[in-house]
Amino acid sequence: MMPFDFDAPISRSNTDSVRWDAHLGRDVIPLWVADMDFSSPPCVVEALAKRVRHGIFGYTHAPVDLRTAICRHLEHDYSWRVDPDWIVILPSVVSGLYTAVRELTKPHEAVLIPKPVYHHLRLACSQAPRAFTEIPLALEDDRWVMPWHQLHDLCGEHTKLALLCNPQNPGGTVYSKSELTQFAHVCEQNDILICSDEIHAGLVLNPALRHIPIASLSQSISMRTVTLMSLNKTFNFPGIGLAWAVAENPTLRQAMQTNLHQTIADPGLLAYTATLSALQGGESWRQSLLEYLRGNRDTVIARIRAMPQLKVSRIDATYLAWIDCSGLNHPDPHSLFLAAGVALSPGAQFNAPQCVRLNFATQRARLHAALDRMALAIGAMPSA
Ligand SMILES: Cc1ncc(COP(=O)(O)O)c(C=O)c1O
Repeated sequence: MMPFDFDAPISRSNTDSVRWDAHLGRDVIPLWVADMDFSSPPCVVEALAKRVRHGIFGYTHAPVDLRTAICRHLEHDYSWRVDPDWIVILPSVVSGLYTAVRELTKPHEAVLIPKPVYHHLRLACSQAPRAFTEIPLALEDDRWVMPWHQLHDLCGEHTKLALLCNPQNPGGTVYSKSELTQFAHVCEQNDILICSDEIHAGLVLNPALRHIPIASLSQSISMRTVTLMSLNKTFNFPGIGLAWAVAENPTLRQAMQTNLHQTIADPGLLAYTATLSALQGGESWRQSLLEYLRGNRDTVIARIRAMPQLKVSRIDATYLAWIDCSGLNHPDPHSLFLAAGVALSPGAQFNAPQCVRLNFATQRARLHAALDRMALAIGAMPSA
């Protein structure tokens, strides 16, 4: 028996949920944007309630304990020793991505990004604007990985920054030490800085794997890296929002502070409360969450594999299944499933229109209902 009940459905209507309101009034199961249908841990909810009951919400600085609590967490979970002074508190990982691209490169310089990847990595480049080259991920032994031996050739004369997403969204890859070392080695050889989005670090589902922050590999790698992290995903409070950048190199750290307190607002005070309480008391909830998500992941993999037109590979981390629908021979798989009452993230958002991404962080009964609808939609196709 799990100490937390993830099967209990919680209505999200009338909460202005982005995910649930997009198809309001229609019989659609929303399994797209990456938040979860689970309440945050009781320790977080109680800490927020206490803070709200106080009733005064004046200008608030980061709690004095926050940076040291983050350092303890990084050392405990990832054996990564970080000095509290290396940490820059940000309102979100996305704002960190845009800052990194703008501030760590000059207008004529270029960026390397994985493909497919969470769309804001690509948008951060196109909006800066900076030229970018995509690193095409490929399936190897059922994992989405980079073409390690071609990385060097993808670096151009003006390439200055490489964006990494580890664990990888979409695809759920947890990069190994040797893979990260190869990536870092190419960056060192070509004098390229690294910005590593590690927001899914707390969501490693495979108990045999550990998340390794790329900056933890060596001091020289750390000196060329900005790591972006947050507890928003793991503890399900992205609507409150707080992230941090770790940069040992003072020049990179300074760059990540650009526009902070100006056009980039400080986190709201409840974000400090949520993050600190999750750091201090959220671990047993996280372990239960991972157990539940493993069950959902296994459900998704088994049921998608029973649909021969779809392909899904191993998912070692995240609550997102990356599904290849090219076997359907349908011009727009996302619309097909939406018409059948399941809203998935369209692959086009990740530059891969023949795929869809399914968020399985919901109650298992709802997940089964969505998978039933997907199977029915496929069964009803003229060629089926
Ligand atoms: C890889 C990745 N980075 C960043 C974010 C968003 O982070 P934040 O809400 O802190 O901006 C997401 C959300 O899905 C994500 O998957």
